[in-house]
Parts: sequence; C-alpha cells; structure tokens
Amino acid sequence: MAQNCLTLSLPMVALCLLATAGFCDTEGGKIDGKKEFDKHCAVCHPNGGNTINSQKTLSKKAMKANGITSSKDIIAIMRKPGPGMTVFDQKTIPDKEAKVIADYILKTFK
Ligand code: HEC
Repeated sequence: MAQNCLTLSLPMVALCLLATAGFCDTEGGKIDGKKEFDKHCAVCHPNGGNTINSQKTLSKKAMKANGITSSKDIIAIMRKPGPGMTVFDQKTIPDKEAKVIADYILKTFK
C-alpha cells in the first residue's frame, strides 16, 4: 500500500517541478492576483506602499511619475527591478502569473 503510494506520487512530484506553466500551484488555471501579490510583493509593498523607497510606491500616481503605466511595464520591473527589490524571473513568477499580479496592482492601488 505505502509502496504503491510512493511509486504513484514520485512521478507526480517530478511533473510539478518540471511544469513551467505553473499549473500545479494554480487551481484550475485561475490565478488569484491578491494572493500572489501578498505572497511575493507585500513584504516590501504592503497596501501598495514601499517600505524601502517611499518614492516608489505602487500607487498609480507614483508609478506614472516613473514611467510605469501598463501591466507590461510592471512585469518589466519584476524581471529587472531597481536597487533593493528582489528579481522575479520566469521560474519564480511565470508570465501568466506576472500579468495577473500586474493587473491586480493597476486596479487596486490608486
Ligand atoms: C525586497 C523588497 C521588495 C519586494 C519583495 C518587491 N519589491 Fe517592488 N520595489 C522594491 C524597491 C526597493 C523598489 C524601488 C526600486 C528603485 O529604486 O527603482 C521597488 C519598486 C517597484 C516598482 C516601481 C514602483 C514605482 O513607483 O516606480 C514596481 C512596479 C514594483 N516594485 C513591483 C513589485 C512587484 C509586482 C513585486 C512582487 C512580484 C515586488 N515589487 C516585490 C522592493 C521590493
């Protein structure tokens, strides 16, 4: 019984690790922008603020002043951030998830 479980679950785990689309940590392909934001970004950007550089919050106004107006711009920052911010590569946050987080930021922080 226990052995059956093991032989069944090992390939599954391998599959999850190999999956680049991240379908194992998303339920039914639906990504929760708030949940992902809280997980990856909220440490430094609580409520869309910025605990490290108070000039660079995620409010629409602050971002616009820095030339960030679309989800594409936000994703570009995640891939190649300024000083003090963690780099989020394709493996940590796949494009699809990055887009959902970016859209969440744009519609949440005014
Ligand atoms: C370790 C802390 C930290 C984490 C985690 C972090 N950031 Fe940042 N973020 C910063 C800092 C510091 C800056 C300012 C960098 C600079 O000087 O250009 C910044 C800037 C930004 C900006 C530009 C804001 C502006 O007004 O110019 C965006 C957009 C952004 N972060 C998005 C994110 C997203 C999305 C996540 C999560 C996927 C995230 N950040 C996670 C620290 C962090």
